[in-house]
Formats: sequence, C-alpha cells, structure tokens
Amino acid sequence: MNFLQLAAAPIAVAFSKCASVAITPVLKPNRTPGFDYQCNDVMSVAASAGMKPRELADLIVSEIKSDPMFADVSVGGPGFINLKLASWFVEEQVLNMRASVDLGIEKVAPDQLVVIDFGGPNVAKPLHVGHLRSFVIGESLRRILKAVGYDVVSDIHWGDWGLQMGMLLHQIIQQYPDDWAAEAVPEFDVHVLEEMYRTASKATKEDGAVLASARNLTQKLQAGDPYLLAVWKEMREVSLSSISGDITKLQAHFDLMLGESDVNDALPAMLVELEAKGLSRVSDGALVVDVAEGQPPLIVQKSDGAALYGATDLATVVQRTKGMGASKILYVVDQRQEQHLQSVFEVARKAGFDHGAELAHVAFGTVNGKDGKPFKTRDGGVAKLTDLLASTVEQAKARVSDGNQEIAEKIAIGALKFADLSTDRISGYIFDPERMTAPEGKTGPYLQYACARIRSVVAKASALPSEGNTGKINVEHEAERQLLLTCISLPMALQAAADRYQPKEVAEFAFSVAQAFSRFYSECQVVFDGKVNASRLAICQFVEVVLSECLYLLGIEVPERM
Ligand code: ARG
Repeated sequence: MNFLQLAAAPIAVAFSKCASVAITPVLKPNRTPGFDYQCNDVMSVAASAGMKPRELADLIVSEIKSDPMFADVSVGGPGFINLKLASWFVEEQVLNMRASVDLGIEKVAPDQLVVIDFGGPNVAKPLHVGHLRSFVIGESLRRILKAVGYDVVSDIHWGDWGLQMGMLLHQIIQQYPDDWAAEAVPEFDVHVLEEMYRTASKATKEDGAVLASARNLTQKLQAGDPYLLAVWKEMREVSLSSISGDITKLQAHFDLMLGESDVNDALPAMLVELEAKGLSRVSDGALVVDVAEGQPPLIVQKSDGAALYGATDLATVVQRTKGMGASKILYVVDQRQEQHLQSVFEVARKAGFDHGAELAHVAFGTVNGKDGKPFKTRDGGVAKLTDLLASTVEQAKARVSDGNQEIAEKIAIGALKFADLSTDRISGYIFDPERMTAPEGKTGPYLQYACARIRSVVAKASALPSEGNTGKINVEHEAERQLLLTCISLPMALQAAADRYQPKEVAEFAFSVAQAFSRFYSECQVVFDGKVNASRLAICQFVEVVLSECLYLLGIEVPERM
C-alpha cells in the first residue's frame, strides 16, 4: 500500500459513517498554502446522501481531525477537504522506504515476460534522427518495467529481410562482377554499403528492370540461396558494427539482436495456418488478410512469394508469445507506423497468434527543427544520429570548464535523453542542443548537477563530526517535510510510468525532487559551525538514493563533476 492509500483509509471510514457510502477517496495535489493534498469526493457523493456538499465536508472533517496522521484538515470552497500530513507520518514512510530493498516499489505478479521491440535499424542505412527516440524511450521503459518486477527482454528487431536486400544484392552485381561470378563474398565498408543502398534505391525507382531484378534476388535470398545468404550476412555484419558505437553511446541494452530474417523459416506454416483459419484470401495474386472496415488489408505475401513487413511482424508475434511466453509485447515505434502495427495486432488477435498477450504500440512523435517540422540538416537531408550526438557533445563541451570529453559526453547524452523523456511521447519536441544542455531550467544537466551536488554535500558532511543521532531523520523545517513528501512519491510515479508506458512520469518526478532539494538546501543548513546536522545529512543521503534511482530509470548518468 502506498502512503496515499494509507492516508485515504480514515477518510473512507468517515465517508461510510457520515454518508453511508463505500468509496476509495482520491487524494490529489493541493495548491492551497499550508496543505499537501485535497479530497474532492464530497462533490459527487453529497447529493445522493441528501446533503449539501459543504455540510458533508464539515462532518467528514470533524471525523478525521483528530487522526494523528494529519497535521491539519480544513474545508475549502464548496466542499473540498484540505489535508496536511503529519511530519511523523512522513518520517515513517521514509523509514519504510529506506528499509525496503527496492525503495518500497510495488512489484507486479511474478513471471510476467515483457518483450520490448525498439531501435529497429535497417541494414545498410545509417541511424538517423528518427531512431533517436526509439532508443531513448525503449531503454528507459526497459529499466522502468524491470524495476516494477517484470521479466524484460529487449529486441532490436533489425530490418534485414525486405526488398532492400534484393536491391543491395543487385547493386553488388554491378559493383563486384568478378566476385559475383566467382561466388566470392566481396569486401566493403559501411560507407560503400550505404552508398550502394542510395544508388540502388534510386535505380529501383527509375528503372523497372532493376526493380524486377531486386525482387528476383529478394525471393532467391528468402528461399535460402547459400551464396546470396553469405553476401547478405556480410552486409548485416558491416551494418551492425557501424551502428554499435552509437548504441553504446546511448547506453541502450539489447538482450536479443534478432531481425525480420529470423522468422523466415516460420513463414510458410504461418501462411498455411492463416488460410486454414479462413483469414487470408488472394487479391491480385498477393495473399492478404482483411482487417477492420475501411482499412487496407494486411498483405502477407506478394505475388512473387516474397515475404513482407506485415508477415515478418506477424510471425515475430508468434515467436515472442508462443515461443518465449511473453505476456506483453511493446513496440516503441514512430507513430507514423500506427496503421501497420494496428493491422498486425488485429490479425494476430484474430488468428490467435497473440496467445492472450497484450500487444501495444508505444508511439512517439517526431524530433523537430526550430520551425516545428521534422528535423532536417541544413541542406534539407535526413540528419544522421552520429552527427546529432556529436553536435550535442560540442555544445556540452563548451559548458565544461576544461572541456573534458568524457564529462561532455555524459552531459550531452543526459541532455538529449531528458529533453526527449520529459515531453509527452506523442507530441514531438524541438532539437535544440543549446537549450537542452543548459545547466538551468528543466534540463538533463540541471538534474545531473543537482545529483552531483547532493553527492558532494554528503561526501563532505560525512567527514565532519556530527550533532545528533546518526541516520535518524527528524523533520523540523517545512522545506524538509516538503522534500521528503516529494521523495516518498517515487513508487507512485514509477507505477504511473509503467502503467502508461510513459517515462515522462519519472522525468517530471525527478525534476520535482531536484527543485525541492534546492529549496531545502537554501533554507536548511546541513553543516553549521563545523558540525553536521545528522538528521539533515540522512535526508541528503535519502534524496541521493531517490534521485539516482530516477536518473538510472531514465538512462541518464551523473558525471563526478560538472
Ligand atoms: N525497421 C523498421 C523501420 O525502419 C522499424 C521496425 C519497428 N519494429 C517492428 N516490429 N515493426 O521502419
């Protein structure tokens, strides 16, 4: 039970006594000076109890006034109940949180596996601005869901099996005819590979013969041609090693590095099953499955037999549910793929491929330029992720006194991640390295700085002689009570983040902790006259633990100095 549920309990008793109703009172943050929470349930209950709201509120207040949990209660406006929690109650919550291994975080039922599908890079295409959010949100969700007790498996789900593979193979023939003739695997680096992709995709658009050749090669590859597979493998490897640097920088962790290709062998049986269940039909030679009225059907096989994005996604659902036992699959994918994913989910449900698991699209909006449109480079091209990271590191470097590279990198990544995670997932945000890396304001560096400062306060104060009982917390000042009241909400913020797949809940919470600490630190002396106030040192230590946990959940590291 969290502390708000504890505080609501006597109010529930009062409601049943005064109005003969059984409700679970909701406590909301309160802006009335001198109060922490408010309960507005009187407004919806009074009429049916045959009372005026104000009258019922007065009755409830007189019931709960003497409860030691509350330092103050009053009726505001037409019948809102204002509540201030007693310091001893706040202290007790802190003690409980400190005593529990997981800071009092409530866990979900055991053995529930969540697969998080994020990243989704494509072979031969560099990571670009569009991938940033998937990596950042996906990694944070991975940590958040683990923290509330899920078994979590992250999978990058490589785009490694579609027509673009045939296009690349076609280009290999043009550029490495001798290797091709000898069935030798050519050697190329990632720059050559990316260039081949650009050339091939242009040629495919312009020339029907190239498209036909690409289709033919795709089909041969998917049918298991050993030479084509060897070349394909090389392309995949070259791509992977080229993006692993950025993935490491972003500190995204993948338990699985599977791709669309990994379900290839499962496709024929899946198509048979769809047919047997009467779900698929032939349309213009292709195999399609109808979804909701007015929506285009999901194409699962082209007329030439090649597998499509929809088919690999469907088979991957089976792999994750039936194969791995997932009870949830989250797709951290751009909102522009909404229709594709909803169709996949619908077909999966109809065909029973979901095995009862929840399939959810954790959608996100675009990273925008200052004009509010999707971010582009100066010459109007798609910005590469490497370049975005580098320009943010440059900005951060200018803010580090000695320009230390390692510190600048931590600040830059923290800045990017916080800018991303503190906005609502669906709304886009503006990529502005200068604002993101600012040490003041609602930014990652502000939080990193706050955490580094608390750590240094703790380190310095711990070395001094102390006044009072080590480790014990006595709330004496209102800023202390407010700070601790904020901190003990961590389990609730985390719960909200996990329920809504919304890391923003943790980001907002972390920011409010940093702000409350800043007020505490300016109003309450931790060290006075060369002696440390033991209770305040214990408060700092507790805040450090809470803030560090939040930053970990957001995937943000704290540099030792800033
Ligand atoms: N590779 C895809 C793309 O670049 C994204 C993959 C998203 N995940 C999925 N299971 N469809 O558009």
